[in-house]
Amino acid sequence: MDSILDLKGRIGLVTGAGQGVGRQVALHLAANNAGGVVVNDFYAERAEAVAEEVRRLGAEALAVVSDVTNYESVQEMVRQAESKFGRVDILVNNAGNAGPTQGLSGIKPFWETGPDDWAHWLGTNLYGVLNGTRAVVGGMMQRRYGRIVTVISDAGRVGEPHLAVYSGAKAGAAGFMRGLAKAVGRSGVTANCVALAGINTPGVAGMIPNDEALKKMLRSYVMGRLGEPDDAANMILFLASDAASWITGQTYPVNGGYSVSV
Ligand SMILES: NC(=O)c1ccc[n+]([C@@H]2O[C@H](COP(=O)([O-])OP(=O)(O)OC[C@H]3O[C@@H](n4cnc5c(N)ncnc54)[C@H](O)[C@@H]3O)[C@@H](O)[C@H]2O)c1
Repeated sequence: MDSILDLKGRIGLVTGAGQGVGRQVALHLAANNAGGVVVNDFYAERAEAVAEEVRRLGAEALAVVSDVTNYESVQEMVRQAESKFGRVDILVNNAGNAGPTQGLSGIKPFWETGPDDWAHWLGTNLYGVLNGTRAVVGGMMQRRYGRIVTVISDAGRVGEPHLAVYSGAKAGAAGFMRGLAKAVGRSGVTANCVALAGINTPGVAGMIPNDEALKKMLRSYVMGRLGEPDDAANMILFLASDAASWITGQTYPVNGGYSVSV
């Protein structure tokens, strides 16, 4: 029997794929018979390096530098993708955290912040998802096939006190996916979210300065460890495959038991 995860030559575009979860998603797509993978990042050298890893797995790759917060730049990225591969079948809206230039340290309480502090959270985690989706969904509907997977956070489901704006941006992205799913389902396009808790990536490494901090953090995790990019990419690959063709408008936690729900 063929693998239920076989992507049958479909074309994937992964935002923020230069490291962490997005990199692993690009590699998972390549390893599961994607016809091509568009590797997006804000940083050229990261995108190029991952595109090279994709090629080493035997799939075609296109590295594209684009800031997903910029509507025009995302439109241009999709034009480049279509000119190389003809179409985009799978979009993974993965770029997130604090955006490309802000770290996750030194975050102030909400009541000490203003619009300038909110912009980078909303820009990448909410507008980035709108921009990416807007650029590909029309073509998907015309071709009557599409998979959109948006990476959110358990912060958007259960709230994180020190990441209130991020929590709101991720919840907004999930609400958008739910509405979109209802609008595009009859055109053969699915739209889902994967909600992650702590995953061991370069982006969050700075939040865990030492073993003591890690031990404290892990008290909240039923499985007693942080997630690895593979843990996230496994679920994203499933939702991107034909195996998930009757699943839409949903949010799936991949969180080591950080939060549980019915
Ligand atoms: N790692 C975690 O613990 C965790 C937990 C919950 C949710 N998430 C979510 O998972 C996703 C991946 O997280 P990660 O930790 O692997 O990320 P990361 O920070 O390690 O890497 C993200 C990559 O995306 C790129 N990027 C960021 N903003 C961009 C933009 N505006 N345009 C283009 N590229 C951009 C960065 O340059 C970087 O290479 C994000 O959406 C994040 O919010 C992560």
